[in-house]
Amino acid sequence: AIQQTFLMVKPDGVERQLVGDIVDRFERRGFVLKEAKLMTISEDLAKNHYAEHAERPFFGELVEFITSGPVFAMVWEGENVIALSRLMMGATNPAESAPGTIRGDYATTVAENIIHGSDSLASAEREIGLFFGK
Ligand code: CMP
Repeated sequence: AIQQTFLMVKPDGVERQLVGDIVDRFERRGFVLKEAKLMTISEDLAKNHYAEHAERPFFGELVEFITSGPVFAMVWEGENVIALSRLMMGATNPAESAPGTIRGDYATTVAENIIHGSDSLASAEREIGLFFGK
């Protein structure tokens, strides 16, 4: 089915000037960029976005990192884009992310792992709403 998902280049990816490469990968796969903005996430938005991780020991570090500099927030559309974009991102833990994936090519730590992508239809709808207000 045609879906929409929320993808975000994290502060480490923006700082390392990987935005163009990442946009290019999804465009070449055949997905369509519907919305995009460079923005700095507020502490409130960070805590809301990552609410499911609130009880994790790394939550404070996660909020601090995601608010540490600009992110590039995007909405992408296409056939099965939620699952396929996550395959293209690679595993969250870089010890498991295959070469050829975004994290497998650029990341070495789980905290600074370049990109976020919605993991389900429900989180895609929630995250698109949070960042783009619809
Ligand atoms: P993301 O897909 O954006 O969703 C939750 C994030 O928590 C995840 O990417 C990682 O960047 C981060 N994360 C997961 N485990 C750890 C950890 N042990 N220490 C710091 N950050 C983590």
